[in-house]
Amino acid sequence: MSLISQQQIDEIIERNDIGDVIGEYVRLERKGSGYSGLCPFHNEKTPSFSVHEGKQIFKCFGCGKGGNVVNFIMLAENLSYFEALEFLAERVGIVLDKSVSKEQEEKQKIKNDIYAVNKLAARFFYETLKKSPNAQKYLYDRGIRAETVKQFGLGYAPDSFDALYKYFANNAIAPNPKLLEKAGLITAKKDDRGYYDKFRNRVIFPIFDVQGNVIAFGGRVMDDSIPKYLNSPETPAYSKGNNLYALNVAKKSQSERVIIVEGYMDCIALHKAGINWAVASLGTALTQAQARLLKKYFNEVIIGYDADSAGQKATLRGLDILAHAGFRVRVLSLAEVDAKVKDPDEFLRKHTVDDFNKAVELSKSLVEYKISKIAEKYPITQLESKAMFLKYSTKVLASITGEAEKDLYADWFAKKYNISKDALLSEIERLQSSGFSEDTDNRTRKIVRSASIASKNKSQSEETHEQIRQKTPEEIKLDKHIKRLILLMSEDKKAKEKYYGKVKEINDSEVNGKLLEKLNERYEQKLKTGVETVLADMTDAPEEDIRLLTDMISKWMRPPDYIQACEEILNKCIIIDCERRLACINEMINDANLNREERSALVREAAAIIKERMKYKNGN
Ligand code: UTP
Ligand code: MN
Repeated sequence: MSLISQQQIDEIIERNDIGDVIGEYVRLERKGSGYSGLCPFHNEKTPSFSVHEGKQIFKCFGCGKGGNVVNFIMLAENLSYFEALEFLAERVGIVLDKSVSKEQEEKQKIKNDIYAVNKLAARFFYETLKKSPNAQKYLYDRGIRAETVKQFGLGYAPDSFDALYKYFANNAIAPNPKLLEKAGLITAKKDDRGYYDKFRNRVIFPIFDVQGNVIAFGGRVMDDSIPKYLNSPETPAYSKGNNLYALNVAKKSQSERVIIVEGYMDCIALHKAGINWAVASLGTALTQAQARLLKKYFNEVIIGYDADSAGQKATLRGLDILAHAGFRVRVLSLAEVDAKVKDPDEFLRKHTVDDFNKAVELSKSLVEYKISKIAEKYPITQLESKAMFLKYSTKVLASITGEAEKDLYADWFAKKYNISKDALLSEIERLQSSGFSEDTDNRTRKIVRSASIASKNKSQSEETHEQIRQKTPEEIKLDKHIKRLILLMSEDKKAKEKYYGKVKEINDSEVNGKLLEKLNERYEQKLKTGVETVLADMTDAPEEDIRLLTDMISKWMRPPDYIQACEEILNKCIIIDCERRLACINEMINDANLNREERSALVREAAAIIKERMKYKNGN
């Protein structure tokens, strides 16, 4: 169903005038550049619902709902985005071509071609390892034997600028160098005179998707040089946040639970120890796409990230994403068995599998882990920080939705931290009622009676999620800035060409990431662009994002100079980024276990960031 092309979506929206469509549901009065009327989504006596004809959006100032014509139909008929599109297509007699489009066929072909050359490359690396005593010794010293090399298809990229390139050139199939470049295996030389291999003198870890295609590679140096790992770039066949290393193996384990670790070596060490239900996220933050992928095979996730502060931060973020995807989540407690090891690989080099399983048994639940983190930050030995500890912990407890579960945790918490359970429960109650109070009137009942229960349930679970993962003020600001940049780039090709890469780099929201990719496609395929197409591209975004964007579009005015406008917003983003990094370093500096050198290194880093921030505050 999601095969409707961007072009077709544009056509459907263009042919369904928003005033005509909404007029079938709501009695509209002409007013200025549009119409107004009584909002169909909440009870009201004076009209706060308005339709903007020129911008083809609607917005209610009472309940906040807004969007384009598709979003309206989604709400009014309780349909998904694509169902709403089908509904609107039918309304104006557009016949949707549901067969796979030419473009998609072409995309799939490129993917298949990349899989094919990757497979050949993996074979080349594998064979080359057999001829390289150094690489063999490196793997041997790290505890890896032939069996594991074979299972994970490990290899070695020789110390040469063109060994792989030549191997392909001499191959009977001899693929086009452009294809090898697209696969990220070779890079064009600066002067465009030929190519060189991307992976040189590195141990190679092929990355497979669940179907077993080789989609990318990671390569590790065999000494202390940097970068330690080199990875394939994003290619048509590989997108970093969409896969998990070793999932192709772990999915066959029949296990209910899966353990996620950070690195290739951690994952391999676990499999070697018989824990074949391990996958690795490869050092990047866990994404919602990865969570959904895991949900196909598992119900419980144990997070086994590194003990360092980066690993712990990643754990906290990962926890929320996984909990939201419906997993039971736990955090592995290696430190409780051995506080000196930094990752699972190291643990298994020092300890037995039984010890590891002990740590698995000791792993903390989401609530326990969050509360233990708060306790680390606010020691309960001092009265003042204990008050802070209680304040934040009750918030965590208030995010628990099940009554029985809540009671269980309240019991545990009251005993462990020696406070009255009754007082605790009433505080939780207070927090919950203040958090859930608004927005529970009979909003959509007016239009879709039969679906009112379903939509009410849905909005409640969305709110619950919000409670668990609250965005920080910085994240909210950054999100808004990025959306603004996307709108600017949608109206100005030059701005898009100049800032697209940069914006993609600083963006950390999945929704905005998708918008960026779709904007890029629009330019590449010479489709319609402009702010309303950004709204049209919000195909499965949360309502919150749609509201925000509608709001921005309703107030939208063209800037006199797009480049300058982008530049100014980017500066603000960089300042926010600096501040985030500073906060992170400050937190690390406050860690009591640092030695003097570590501390002064951190202070130096903080000073450098402050300097950078100054530069941008003064407008470069
Ligand atoms: P780590 O630095 O924890 O490495 O990075 P590791 O997995 O323990 O590696 P070994 O044991 O020293 O070999 C975790 C993961 O982050 C990614 C890799 O996927 C790595 O496995 N990473 C790390 C990179 O992509 N590039 C780097 O330079 C470093
Ligand atoms: Mn390691």
